[in-house]
Amino acid sequence: MTKLLLRALAGETLPIPPIWMMRQAGRYLPEYRATRAQAGDFLSLCYNPELAAEVTLQPIRRYGFDAAILFADILLVPQALGADLWFVTGEGPRLSTITSAADMARLKPADQIDERLSPVYQTLRILSAELPRETTLIGFAGAPWTVATYMVAGRGTKDQGPAHALKDSDRETFTRLIDLITDATIHYLSRQIEAGAEVVKLFDSWAGSLQGDDFDDFALAPARRIIGALKERHPTVPIIAFPREAGGRYAGFARATGADCVALDNSVPADWAAEHVQIDGCVQGNLDPRHMVTGGRELVAEAQRITRAFSNGPHIFNLGHGITPDADPDNVARMIDAVRSA
Ligand code: CP3
Repeated sequence: MTKLLLRALAGETLPIPPIWMMRQAGRYLPEYRATRAQAGDFLSLCYNPELAAEVTLQPIRRYGFDAAILFADILLVPQALGADLWFVTGEGPRLSTITSAADMARLKPADQIDERLSPVYQTLRILSAELPRETTLIGFAGAPWTVATYMVAGRGTKDQGPAHALKDSDRETFTRLIDLITDATIHYLSRQIEAGAEVVKLFDSWAGSLQGDDFDDFALAPARRIIGALKERHPTVPIIAFPREAGGRYAGFARATGADCVALDNSVPADWAAEHVQIDGCVQGNLDPRHMVTGGRELVAEAQRITRAFSNGPHIFNLGHGITPDADPDNVARMIDAVRSA
């Protein structure tokens, strides 16, 4: 019996879609907060294989999701490349910045990231031994553009201004940074697959800020290169691409990159996506995460509307972005019931 998530990714239309949630291991769960406190802080949790595996398993035990996503962060790759990384409570990530060829020269080559990232591979090995046999294990990385926006700015930004500025003023340095992250991502995801990841997902959270040719050059082309290289090494492992807020550019993204599935943010109308994106294969999404805070009849109605809109093709039910710390854990169970009874 093949796992449900893998069947959807292979293009099968299922009577009930497999379900998981972005950030399903997170601060809305009291058991997550307890384990995070035990680890000390967020990064120590990411680099502690036993505890990272524990928090990955918590939402599986509580809700029986069809997939578990590795607990780690997209910013571990810049750190492994030599950037300083820390998290400021209540504010988010901070990194040393890359704004010149001289900064680039201080970074490590793409194939030297394992020294730092080997605990992540160990987390996957633990998970592949401990997960229930019906649960699919998902590995992930940030897409080059999104990772570059943090490396250039040294923090999260509203409009990704510093990365746009470097791209426009020193395209050569910016392109070298994108190429380095692309190579590191191919290496990192290959190692994750070797350690037990059955599916990998590429998070391009800021793809929506790239317009026209820039979208082709910095969202589409790196995704195509990463997916092509992974398919060569691991032809049977499905790949999910998440070019968040790509809008009309979601159409054709799977065909252009070779992705097996495209994840949709919640700004995309499900009926439009069923017609223009799902024609190329599996889609994932796309409930607005605010329903996990507000709950009620609206949550049930929206979860069922999305499930029905995608019911004529392969679909993985998920949120359009990560669940937030203020979500009510009971709403997650309500969402799962609503999808399974749609
Ligand atoms: O989905 C999952 O549960 C898997 C684990 C995962 C995390 N981050 C754990 C995390 C994944 C896939 C990510 C991806 C990630 N990280 C992205 C891309 C997806 C997205 O959300 O847009 C980005 C941009 C980051 C960078 C990052 N990490 C930020 C901006 C923050 C701070 C914001 C926040 O929510 O606090 C993080 C921290 C982070 N990553 C947390 C978790 C569970 C919260 C840390 C904590 O426990 O305090």
